[in-house]
Amino acid sequence: MEITYTIEGIGLNQDYFVYVSGETIPLAKAETESLLEMCNKEIVVEWKGRLGRFSSTTDLTGFLLGRAAFVKTSGRILAEFHEVDDIPQKGLEGVIDSTKSFAVRTLHLGEFNERGETSSLEAEVGAALLKHNQAEVSLDSPDILFLVICSDETRLLTISEESRIRKLLELREPGRKEFFHPSMMNAKLARAMCNLAQVMPSQIVLDPFCGAGGILCEVIPIGARGVGMDLNWNLLRGARLNLKDAGVIGFSLIQGDARSCPVDSCDCIVTDPPYGRASSTRGSQARALVESFLKDVRRILPKGGRVCMCASSDMEVYDIVRDLEIGVKSVVDLRVHSGLVRQVFSLFV
Ligand SMILES: C[S@@+](CC[C@H](N)C(=O)[O-])C[C@H]1O[C@@H](n2cnc3c(N)ncnc32)[C@H](O)[C@@H]1O
Repeated sequence: MEITYTIEGIGLNQDYFVYVSGETIPLAKAETESLLEMCNKEIVVEWKGRLGRFSSTTDLTGFLLGRAAFVKTSGRILAEFHEVDDIPQKGLEGVIDSTKSFAVRTLHLGEFNERGETSSLEAEVGAALLKHNQAEVSLDSPDILFLVICSDETRLLTISEESRIRKLLELREPGRKEFFHPSMMNAKLARAMCNLAQVMPSQIVLDPFCGAGGILCEVIPIGARGVGMDLNWNLLRGARLNLKDAGVIGFSLIQGDARSCPVDSCDCIVTDPPYGRASSTRGSQARALVESFLKDVRRILPKGGRVCMCASSDMEVYDIVRDLEIGVKSVVDLRVHSGLVRQVFSLFV
């Protein structure tokens, strides 16, 4: 198991921030909101570009940093200010344990990006922190990183931490797996889809089009059990190699047809069916395959159970789910190349 996180209860409402990767901002936002919703349905995130702000009575930033594929940085907001002299004392006092070292860095959002301004701001904030705390500065390897997030309108003084999972995901990209196949889903998207499906430890997650196991390889580190099915024996062999290579146990692989799925029940479904991009079929075969599989999800899932699924936009999955009265939580469009828009659907029954 790769990740442990504690969610600390602090009783009071505190302000937090999350800064997401620029690779695919709408997906990053949907993933962040889905993870926060898992913990507390009341949390509302206010977004400005890649920066999200939210209030919470529990510190959920460790959970985001340990689970989200597209969260780069997150932490607590200590103060909002314009001039360093305006930072209220309570935003500075007692924020550094005397045994810990610290550094101040800046993050500039949007157009606001002047290097000279940056270093003097870091020094000024560092001096203000030293005035109110007994601590040592360590620019190279600080125990605590204060990030000053600057935009045209305001500045935020934050205690910030980096993602604990993005480097691990890079090691799990398809090209680095024991068995490679071009249809494999990349690790970041697979992880984000698990998060959109709100996979929880010890749940059973089904991928009925599992191929060589790109999605299953992300299900299992979360602590859930994966059940994979595919028509293709060779890809199932590849999935077994990839899952074993990742050192994981707790998965089952079945050779079968998703149109007559032999699985009776699971907690959620995360999957990437074939797109059938042959111009002669214009996705119609793939659409029929997805339709027949989606007709079955109510039988397999508990009420409220989630499906996170990719499809190409020409399959018009929106129409299928509307006809089947399956709920849509979110849809994110990912442009793969000029002829293909991949849509990531987060659905519930
Ligand atoms: C896009 S790939 C899946 C990628 C995989 N989910 C991953 O994470 O790497 C689609 C898979 O669907 C499988 N497939 C096609 N028709 C199927 C069917 N009727 N039932 C089950 N699997 C099917 C193909 O063999 C292929 O492996």
